[in-house]
Amino acid sequence: MSEWNAATEARIAAPGRIRPRRLRRSPALRDLVAETSVLARQLVMPHFVLPVAKANEPIASMPDIFRTGVDDLLRAVESDHKLGIKSVLLFGTPPAGAKDATGSSAHDPDAAVPRAVRALRSAFGQDLVIMTDVCLCAYTDHGHCGVLVGGEVDNDRSLAPLAAMALAHAEAGADLVAPSDMMDGRVAALRDALDADGHSETGIMSYAVKYASAYYGPFRDAADSAPHDGDRRSYQMDSRNSAEAGREAMLDEAEGADMLMVKPALAYLDVIRRVREMTTLPLAAYNVSGEYSAVKAAAERGWLDEAAVVRENLHAMVRAGANLIITYHARAALAGSWL
Ligand code: PBG
Ligand code: ZN
Repeated sequence: MSEWNAATEARIAAPGRIRPRRLRRSPALRDLVAETSVLARQLVMPHFVLPVAKANEPIASMPDIFRTGVDDLLRAVESDHKLGIKSVLLFGTPPAGAKDATGSSAHDPDAAVPRAVRALRSAFGQDLVIMTDVCLCAYTDHGHCGVLVGGEVDNDRSLAPLAAMALAHAEAGADLVAPSDMMDGRVAALRDALDADGHSETGIMSYAVKYASAYYGPFRDAADSAPHDGDRRSYQMDSRNSAEAGREAMLDEAEGADMLMVKPALAYLDVIRRVREMTTLPLAAYNVSGEYSAVKAAAERGWLDEAAVVRENLHAMVRAGANLIITYHARAALAGSWL
């Protein structure tokens, strides 16, 4: 055995001895040592649903995404299912005339989301995971996520209508309800309401860590859910904060959430990592509308390679610690074998 001495050390440090590039030489080698994959089973496709049978309306700020009637939704989910997308997240888009101060059409069993859930459940049985967004902003005439009292979003007054909405979705057959309103205590309120009504099997995917973000712009066009006055900074999180994300995540876990989410994804990869290290619950990343539309716009101009950028972005989310990704890119990524 040779002696460990200065010469050994010099040899170890010698330029060219250690070459990380050896494992990058061929696609097969790179695949062999790749640390991360994004699989179809991890992708959730969001859908905007109209309370009609037939409709397929393009959304100007979200190319290739549509507001669909229930029949058209069924067709889209069927073809997505063949690509391997087994999970959907549904958003209701009620007509302006159905909106009121407390968002009461949100718990109407004949609203778009309960109708869509029933149709999807009867078409797919248990072969599809059906998640529904629970929030009042698309249903209130002021566009805030909760009930206004004296011009302020009143936390505790918002809990009952949110729970009623979750119940309507559970009754229709949703697997998971996903509260996105950011009221304190809403996970506990939803859990209690579901359990009291015989829906102890219905899960809660909490938008636990949801930042007040300019990246939601295109979504608010799609869902007609922008606040008419002010913004959402009194309930959604401040983008300067990271420790607070851990606090929100721990609270929602303690209140009975079955899964947690960080939203948006790309500007918050550090937060995904932080939350991943604090919980054993499945963690979702929401690759939101503005993140989607920014890539689409640049790709349309030929400024970015859409397939390569989507692949890189989705890998980044999984690398950061996300177990599942809610993304408008899901369909194109699988159809084009981008991953
Ligand atoms: C409803 C809700 C929003 C999103 C998901 N649920 C908008 C908002 O909070 O203003 C954003 C999703 C996206 O941008 O893709 N509260
Ligand atoms: Zn909302």
